[in-house]
Order: sequence, then C-alpha cells, then structure tokens
Amino acid sequence: MSRTILVTGGAGFIGSNFVLQRVAAGDRILNLDKLTYAGNPGNLAALKDNPGYVFVHGGIEDEALLTRLFAQHKPDAVVNFAAESHVDRSIVSPEEFITTNVVGTFRLLHAALAYYRGLDAAAQARFRIHHVSTDEVYGSLGPDDAAFTESKAYEPNSPYSASKASSDHLVRAYQHTYGMPTLTTNCSNNYGPYQFPEKLIPLVILNALNGRPLPIYGDGMNVRDWLYVGDHCDAIALVLEKGVVGETYNIGGDSEMANLDVVRTICSIMDELHPAGAPHTQLITYVKDRPGHDRRYAVDTARIKRELGWRPRESFASGIRRTVEWYLGNPAWVAEVTSGEYRKWISTNYETRG
Ligand code: NAD
Ligand code: TYD
Repeated sequence: MSRTILVTGGAGFIGSNFVLQRVAAGDRILNLDKLTYAGNPGNLAALKDNPGYVFVHGGIEDEALLTRLFAQHKPDAVVNFAAESHVDRSIVSPEEFITTNVVGTFRLLHAALAYYRGLDAAAQARFRIHHVSTDEVYGSLGPDDAAFTESKAYEPNSPYSASKASSDHLVRAYQHTYGMPTLTTNCSNNYGPYQFPEKLIPLVILNALNGRPLPIYGDGMNVRDWLYVGDHCDAIALVLEKGVVGETYNIGGDSEMANLDVVRTICSIMDELHPAGAPHTQLITYVKDRPGHDRRYAVDTARIKRELGWRPRESFASGIRRTVEWYLGNPAWVAEVTSGEYRKWISTNYETRG
C-alpha cells in the first residue's frame, strides 16, 4: 500500500538513497531538509517533476513548520535521517550537533506526538516514527570483545555519538512515557553513491583520483563494520513495515575491516580503473590521530536477520567496486560538492594534522 512518509534529512547521503528507493517503490515522500553543507538537492534531481515527491526547505528544530507539515500532508510515517553526521566536525564544532541531533529530534518527537494524538484509531495504528541512528552510540570495542547487541549499554565517546545517543534516549522516552509508536535502528558505517567526500571512503577515492595524499589517522588499525547504503535503506524499509513498536534493531554488513585494508582495497580498484596513477598505495600518508578515536565497532545483526529476515545483498568487495565506479562516473556531482565549503573543511581538518 502506498504511504506518505515524512523523511527528514532526505537530501543527505543515506536519506537521498532512501528517498529514491521509496519513490520507485510507490511511496509519496515529503522531504524536509535544512540543506546544510551535507544536503544536496541535486541528489534528487531525477524526482523534480515526480508528483510523488515534495521538497521542503527547513530544519527539524522548527516546531511550527513541523506542525504545519503534519497538518497539511498527514503522513503515515516519519523517518528521521536529519543530523550532523561527521565525527571530526563534532570535535571542531560540537554545538550544531546538539542543536540538530538533540534539540531537533526532541522537537520532531514533540510535534509528531501532537499530530499522533489527533489521529483516529485506524491512522494511529498505522503511524510510525522511525529514528535512524548509529552503532557509535555503543562505544568502542577491544579486539576480542563481542559485537554490539541491542542490549549493549550506551557508552558514546565523541560529541557526535553523544548527541545521537541523546536522541535515541529521547525516542525511547517518548515511546515509554507517551506511547509513541517509535522504531530505532543502529547501523554501522555506510558507503555508496552520494556520500559527501569528508568521510573516509569517498575522500580516499577522490584523493586517489587526483593524486593527493590518502590520510590515515593514527596507525590505520581502527576497525569499522561497512554496509552498502542500499542494504541499509532496505533494512529501514523493512523495519518500518514489520518492526515491533518500541524496539531497536542493529544493522550491519558483517564486514569488519581495519581502515588501512579499506584504503588498500580502494587503491587496488583504482589501479585497475585509473591505471595512470598506479600504484595508488604510494599516496598513503599517516597523519595525526583523531582525538578520542574509537578503536573498533562491530555489530551483531542476529535480531534483524532472525525476526525480519533481512540480509545485506552486497558484499564489501561488490559494494566498494560499485561505489568507486559511481564516483568515477559522476564527475559533475563531484565537482559540485567539492567546491566552496568543502575546501574550507579540508584545510581545517588536514592542514593541522601534518
Ligand atoms: P549526511 O550528513 O550525509 O546528511 C544529513 C542530512 O541532514 C543533510 O541533507 C542535511 O542538510 C540534513 N540536515 C542537517 N541538519 C538538519 C536539520 N536541523 N533539519 C533538517 N535537515 C538537516 O548524513 P548521512 O550519512 O546521510 O546520515 C543520515 C543519518 O544516518 C544520520 O542520522 C546519521 O547519524 C545516521 N547514520 C549514518 C551512518 C553513516 O555511515 N553515514 C551510519 C549509521 C547511521
Ligand atoms: P569516517 O568515515 O569519518 O566515519 P566514522 O568516524 O563515523 O567511523 O571514518 C572512518 C574511519 O576512518 C575512522 O576510523 C576514522 C578514519 N579516517 C581516516 O583514517 N582518515 C580520514 O581522512 C578520515 C575522514 C577518516
């Protein structure tokens, strides 16, 4: 059945992949996005004349706007992607993380609750608010520790993960206290088309393409679990449809890798697709570590597999190849996002690392 979904942050990386997927599946999407440096309406240019897609420019912290949108569009569900999402930026300027991730999520919950209370019983039974979160809220693992399960205590270590943890707690409290039909997912590191090249994978692809240093923080042995963005979007759609209200679901790719191995894999694909720069590993450069850098994340995905039957479709090997091909095949998108503000960030973050 076709639904109307209020998506927040739908012009960002994961949000735009989700919007494209859901419009193709027949849902109507109302996309509320503040268009920060990370938001790019060009990601959704293909939907310009699509009657199933409406864009609204604004922030989730604007409760009056939210109230108006709920009244006017009467969504069946909300999926909250809107966030400040980059750990290094949260170290340099944490305030925006509190404004959007904490205060913004609170205002969204508050406006959604008022709307929910005004619905008739059938619409209430259908309504869901799905909060998209991260595995980083669980803290950092040692090399032999068990992967994060949904019952792992929260131990956030960066201003980013602390702000996401706060938002997760607010979602939990709104369900527990007011009976809001919430769902929360905690996913590992995503990669794929439309990711802003401040994050490791697109940064390394584009630096390799341009013969620039590939910056490795610390010893390069920090471990992340990687999931192709399309698989994350499938998981969110499935949880939205079949997840148990009030529950949280971990999502991950069963693909733990040290950063250095991720970078070497990209280099070998680049050697093949862009032989002029080979061997790209010669660009690997060790730089000053991130303060408080979490050593390892690993996600136990048994619950979503067992209860909802989700499985990732891409392996890291297939997903990373598709991703490199996408960045090499979309030079206009790359040129647009790497102008202006992007250059400022690259000099702020890397010139001081030496
Ligand atoms: P992103 O930074 O690419 O996009 C964020 C989007 O939110 C942008 O379009 C931005 O303009 C918008 N936005 C920012 N502040 C806003 C506000 N106040 N109101 C409305 N819109 C606002 O982020 P992403 O990587 O697509 O991540 C999306 C969500 O998924 C985030 O909540 C993030 O915490 C979570 N997540 C990301 C990853 C990952 O690896 N990227 C992994 C797990 C969870
Ligand atoms: P990132 O993509 O920023 O995601 P997160 O910090 O949310 O996991 O970084 C992924 C890993 O790569 C992380 O351990 C930090 C490391 N990293 C580098 O070594 N060099 C870089 O230039 C960047 C951006 C990240």
